[in-house]
Amino acid sequence: MGEEKINVAIVGLGFGKEFIPIYQLHPNTNMYAICQRTKERLDEVGGQFGVAGRYTSFEDLIRDPRVDAVHINSPIHLHAPQSIAALRAGKHVACTVPAATSVDECREIVQAAEESGRNYMMMETAIYTREFLYIRELRESGRLGRIQFLRGCHQQEMAGWPGYWEGLPPMHYATHAVSPCLALVKGEADFVSCFGSGRIADHLAARYGSPFAVESALFKVRGQNLSFEVTRSLFETARQYVESFDVYGERTSFEWSRIEGEDPVIHIGEKPERVKVPDYARLLPAPIRRFTTKGVYDGEHAHLSFIQGGGHGGSHPHLVHEFVTSIIEKRPSFPDVYQSVNWTCAGICAHESAMQGGQIVKLPAFSSGVILSS
Ligand SMILES: NC(=O)c1ccc[n+]([C@@H]2O[C@H](COP(=O)([O-])OP(=O)(O)OC[C@H]3O[C@@H](n4cnc5c(N)ncnc54)[C@H](O)[C@@H]3O)[C@@H](O)[C@H]2O)c1
Repeated sequence: MGEEKINVAIVGLGFGKEFIPIYQLHPNTNMYAICQRTKERLDEVGGQFGVAGRYTSFEDLIRDPRVDAVHINSPIHLHAPQSIAALRAGKHVACTVPAATSVDECREIVQAAEESGRNYMMMETAIYTREFLYIRELRESGRLGRIQFLRGCHQQEMAGWPGYWEGLPPMHYATHAVSPCLALVKGEADFVSCFGSGRIADHLAARYGSPFAVESALFKVRGQNLSFEVTRSLFETARQYVESFDVYGERTSFEWSRIEGEDPVIHIGEKPERVKVPDYARLLPAPIRRFTTKGVYDGEHAHLSFIQGGGHGGSHPHLVHEFVTSIIEKRPSFPDVYQSVNWTCAGICAHESAMQGGQIVKLPAFSSGVILSS
């Protein structure tokens, strides 16, 4: 890829901080600037990692012509407005999940990306975990045979997280469960029927007008003989954290382990077998390989999501590498803007369906293509 280097800025320094040393060591990036509102915390992180560019204002950051790309890790309701503003300012955008909170915001992201000609990538950790990369390899080798069904599940207890999480409709944060199903079959969700189940406390339900403890949905994949199922819970449902993905093939199936630390199972025909999933650091440039198994601040200082999500399956350096190489090679990222918003809209429309008692909701089509590249 040569010596070209792009200047990257990270916005939001909670989860966002995890990515600083990866950009510092990636051969094609300068970790140019960081941004968050509180000056004290900004300087603390800047000092810790030796990042000179510091902004307390997002608007000032995107006016800086030296910034080529921004990686947004701010609270959920800012993802879309900040992404749209950055694209319109001519920056490439990587944004943590979900891409947006409404269908209209998704539409605006697509429009801004198309008009600016810049890359937009939702930084979906679930499709760069070692488990996903392993399943993708099984698919590409032909071992799965015809894919018959897929299932994603993400159950997490979010009590005590920053206030904007409280009462969030479970399906408004569904991308970790939706994305692997669609990424594996290079597809988009077409329509959905979702049921809400159980009840959460009144004060939580009042926040977003969303009463359900669990939402479970069936999605149809556009243009393929496939459907997939997604289960989400966020509050008052007892369970160890799980972010899992199962795929049922004609010859081989893969089921994620249900308890952290256990190995997943592949079924060859009717015969189950536990497998050790390999690491895929070899796919990365040498300087960032260590980040598939090590966090940025290991031990007691690790970000809670990194601990709960088992280090997000080693996905962080893969995400950075895909975002950066897509810009340098002047090609769409995976996921590209259309896939990113479809995978986000899947959850938004699922919640809409749940609020209508399970009625089928059709997703808007943001792109004309049905089979998308990976
Ligand atoms: N596996 C994953 O993909 C994963 C895991 C964890 C978090 N996330 C996502 O990352 C996001 C951030 O998570 P977090 O736990 O760090 O959240 P947080 O609320 O703890 O931190 C948000 C950060 O954004 C900054 N910020 C807020 N408003 C800003 C503004 N206007 N301009 C610039 N900076 C601003 C805050 O100062 C803070 O540094 C969440 O939206 C979440 O969806 C994704």
